[in-house]
This record gives sequence, structure tokens and C-alpha cells, in this order.
Amino acid sequence: MPQAKGLFISLEGIDGSGKSTQARRLADWLRARGRDAVLTREPGGAPGAEEIRRLLVEGDPDRWSPETEILLFTAARRDHLERTIRPALEAGRDVVTDRFADSTRVYQGATRGDLRSLVDRIHAEAIGVEPDLTLVLDMDPEVALQRGLARQSGEDRFEEFGLPFQQKLRAGFLALAGYYPDRCVVIDASRSPDEIAEAVSGAVAHRLG
Ligand code: ADP
Ligand code: TYD
Repeated sequence: MPQAKGLFISLEGIDGSGKSTQARRLADWLRARGRDAVLTREPGGAPGAEEIRRLLVEGDPDRWSPETEILLFTAARRDHLERTIRPALEAGRDVVTDRFADSTRVYQGATRGDLRSLVDRIHAEAIGVEPDLTLVLDMDPEVALQRGLARQSGEDRFEEFGLPFQQKLRAGFLALAGYYPDRCVVIDASRSPDEIAEAVSGAVAHRLG
């Protein structure tokens, strides 16, 4: 009998909204329930994709045009899909990814000119899959920006676009969640890490049935 496919879960939201914290906790929660979970992230999640990541998250905010960014993020995503996501799901493992295609829809598709239809066409040709469940961590960008910049990670190219950009992103993620209600759940990320983790695992438990 073919092995059941794993569950494909993405976490999305603005910079500093707690995605990586919650992705880690969700993978631990799945493992504690006896499931085999792979924790991964975008841009990155495979050796080649991590090399592309460095081109994207370091350097001047105007280093790339939005169109070039779409192609670079999609190249990284294709590598991530081929090398990490698809093999894991086919082996029956769950995949928890910190960002996936919704980030391109919002960051490149909705903030600097209307490039959404280009994003959708490239996604359809080169990627063509969606997560089973997307958790959108929603919070005030002002607080999230302070959390993010406080990290001093050297990967602040997108944070450096500033507060109005993050406000557009927040609205973009909420609109997207409204557009894909079957797979998206909006989580109030202004709370404590424990409260958010409970809401996240509750949404996943509901999906697992
Ligand atoms: P993201 O992956 O969305 O950028 P992180 O999980 O890296 O977010 O969190 C950004 C910063 O905020 C980190 O320093 C993290 O420790 C802190 N943080 C995460 N969740 C919370 C929370 N619920 N309340 C306060 N600080 C948090
Ligand atoms: P990430 O490491 O998730 O940053 P953070 O922890 O600050 O949320 O992602 C790096 C940056 O890349 C982030 O600012 C969002 C941006 N990004 C896009 O613009 N498009 C995309 O498709 C993806 C996956 C990320």
C-alpha cells in the first residue's frame, strides 16, 4: 500500500511576527504526537536555495528589481521543493516551512507595483503546489519591526523598507487569507509565545481531525 503523504504546513506573516519561533514549536508539537516532522524555511531550505537566500536578504534594499526578485525567490523555491519538501511529503513526513509562495504573492506581488499576475503565472509554471494549511501570524507591524531589528541578524534588507511597507504587507497577508479561506487560518500573534503556540497547534489538530 502506498504510504500516506505527510501534511504540508506553512507559516506566513510580516517580518518579526514570530514565524520561526512558532515553526520550531509546531515541529516539536508534531513530533511529540509521534509524527515525523521536517522543519524548514524560505528563502532556503536546501543547500542551493540557501545560496540564493544570501543574494536576497543581504545588501541594499534596491539591489534587485521586484521582477528579478520574483525569479530569484522562485528559483530558490523550486530547489527547496525538489530537494526537501517533495521527498519528505512522499516519505510520509510532515513539512513545516517558515514562509512559502504566499510571501512572494505579498512581498513581490502587492507592495511595489501590481505584479501579482506575474507572480501567479510564474508560480503556476514553476511550482504549482500549495500547502495543506497556512498559518498567517498577524500583528501590529510597529511592534514586529522592533522585535525583528532587535535581532541584528544582518539579514534586514526587507525590514529596511520601513513601517509603511510592513503595513502594506500586513494588509496583503490578511487579504490573501480571505481569498484562500480553505487553507489559511489567521492567528493573533500579538500574544505570548505560549498562547500563540496553543492557537497554532489547535489549528493543526483540527486539520489532522
Ligand atoms: P520571524 O521568524 O517572524 O521573523 P521570530 O520568531 O524570529 O520571527 O521572532 C522575532 C523576535 O521576536 C525574536 O527575537 C523572538 O525571540 C521574539 N519573539 C517571538 N515571538 C514572540 C512573542 N510572542 N512575544 C515577544 N517576542 C517574541
Ligand atoms: P525571513 O528569513 O523569513 O525573514 P524574517 O525572519 O525577518 O521574517 O525572510 C527573509 C526576507 O525575505 C523577509 O523579509 C521576507 C522576504 N521574502 C520575500 O520578499 N519573498 C518571498 O517569497 C520570501 C520567501 C521571503
